[in-house]
Amino acid sequence: MGPSVAETRGTAATANGVVARIIDEVYQRFRADTSGTLADYIPELAAVQPDSFGVCLATADGRVYGSGDLETAFTIQSISKPFTYALALADRGTAEVAERIDVEPTGEPFYEISLDPRTQRPRNPMINAGAIAAASLIEGRDAADRFERIRRSYSRFAGRELRMNEAVYASEARTGYRNRAIGYLLRGAGIIDIDPDEAVDRYFRQCSLDVTCRDLALMAATLANNGVNPLTHERALSGPLVEQVLSVMTTCGMYDAAGDWVTTVGLPAKSGVGGGILAVLPGQIGIAVYSPRLDAHGSSVRGVQVCRELSHRLGLHFLHVTRAAHTAIRTAYSVTEAPSRLRRDPDELALLRRYGDHARIFELHGDLLFAGAESTVRAVEETPGELDALVLDLREVGYVSAVAIRMLDDLQAELAATGCRVALVDPEAKLGHFSSSLDPADPRGRVFADRDSATEWCEQLVLDKYRPPGEAAHTALTVDQHPALSDLAEHEREGLAKEFEIRTIARGELVIARDSPRAGLFLILDGRVRITFEDRSGHRHRLVSLATGMSFGEIPMLAGVRFTNDIYAESTVRLAVLPPAKFDLLTSEAPEIKLALLERLAATAYTQSDAAIRALAAHGAP
Ligand code: DON
Repeated sequence: MGPSVAETRGTAATANGVVARIIDEVYQRFRADTSGTLADYIPELAAVQPDSFGVCLATADGRVYGSGDLETAFTIQSISKPFTYALALADRGTAEVAERIDVEPTGEPFYEISLDPRTQRPRNPMINAGAIAAASLIEGRDAADRFERIRRSYSRFAGRELRMNEAVYASEARTGYRNRAIGYLLRGAGIIDIDPDEAVDRYFRQCSLDVTCRDLALMAATLANNGVNPLTHERALSGPLVEQVLSVMTTCGMYDAAGDWVTTVGLPAKSGVGGGILAVLPGQIGIAVYSPRLDAHGSSVRGVQVCRELSHRLGLHFLHVTRAAHTAIRTAYSVTEAPSRLRRDPDELALLRRYGDHARIFELHGDLLFAGAESTVRAVEETPGELDALVLDLREVGYVSAVAIRMLDDLQAELAATGCRVALVDPEAKLGHFSSSLDPADPRGRVFADRDSATEWCEQLVLDKYRPPGEAAHTALTVDQHPALSDLAEHEREGLAKEFEIRTIARGELVIARDSPRAGLFLILDGRVRITFEDRSGHRHRLVSLATGMSFGEIPMLAGVRFTNDIYAESTVRLAVLPPAKFDLLTSEAPEIKLALLERLAATAYTQSDAAIRALAAHGAP
């Protein structure tokens, strides 16, 4: 017996001890079971080592775990059937294959010599009649080429060149009278057009391809990975055909034991009289077991037991209900609860407190399929009250299905008709809209790279809608009109205003660099500044934006510390600056003016930090 391994890309490693141990426990649990008998109707099949036993699991991204005989070669036998059926579908198309092979489960064993009495077709491609019919449909120059195409196709699934076991082939070719009978029946019924001996010979050859338990696990993982081999990255089958093949494996792969298999294991699977079983959990894993003692259905006794145990222990049943569909909405809130990082003046704050519920943010996550899209669309449609703006943050969403894209597009159109615009936070264009592809005036909305800008845009829509008529959005101030000076008597205010220097800075220019020493008290008379920081990967983020009527630079002035962030002009900005020397001089020259100024600045600073803390608390609540 081989050791327990966890390997990746062919290199032995002990990377994942947890999973390797689970596989090994299951392997050990059934190791002593010697029930069942070797297939001997093909004499050479009885020549294998009966105690051989291997359990292997390969993930859809190519990690292989296993215990026991993972590298022992054995013939693939009936596990070949889904793969030849897949190649026939690729060669001839689903419709042409369906004219000759049905997809109905049968309660009959694999070797039954029968056609459906009504359709005169083999009932499915997993019983021998359907498998021989599929082998007859493979295209190629001649018989040798047609088999070579089968061999190469299986090899793509396995990720290595598979070879035929000549002894097993010769043995079956000598004794396979039943399969020849099926071939002649098929020819007589017009299901196969070629020489029935050629079709049956090809079937014998495909059954005699040697595989290992590890090969089968990777073939299963390739099906789990939608047809792409996770190690070689080569496509072995198209996505739609993977779906067709797995469907037929689900209903017919285990022949007359299909019902029991689906209820107790719940995975599309295929067994072979060589002792192998392969099972697939779409999107997640492939499983293979090798143990040549068979049950009455021609399936490996330990193979069936191991698959049952793994399915139960690892929760693999494909009808197991997860909550994924209901968790598409990670969280939802209004712009009042979590405002943008643009600090608003008191009038705007009052408007947003009152109407902020009209702008809502939905953060989505997980894969967005029909059910997730349905719960999102429903939550938006059923939002109580009026909706003027909506942020849909898709950055944490993985895959978005075609129907989900369509539903979100329809939702946008539906909202646009009521005057509500949508800000998509979708820098990777998962919904197919690029920020440059949408006209900024598009009534459906806009695409943003981050949630903060999207939120600010929605706040602005609400402010523009509810600001009382005649009240301008932003009026430029003179120094003496700036709120920082509002507690001073008029003559004091006029006197102090004269001490300020006026500076105009162009949009995008640096106002103050990080680490600069105290540089004065800055009052914003018109426009906006943006306080930013750079993350480890060099991306610049907004910490906060300050607008007309606000101030900055007071902390370095009072505490003597340096500026901790870069400050840029977000628009063309007009600033009034009280230089440090003049600020300091106030202490001796006009202490009462300085006190009034500081009281006002302290109150504003408190309001600002309170707004920031509230925003954080609302958003990141534990
Ligand atoms: O048709 C046969 O007899 C074999 N070559 C393959 C049968 C088989 O593997 C049935 N599956 N459990």
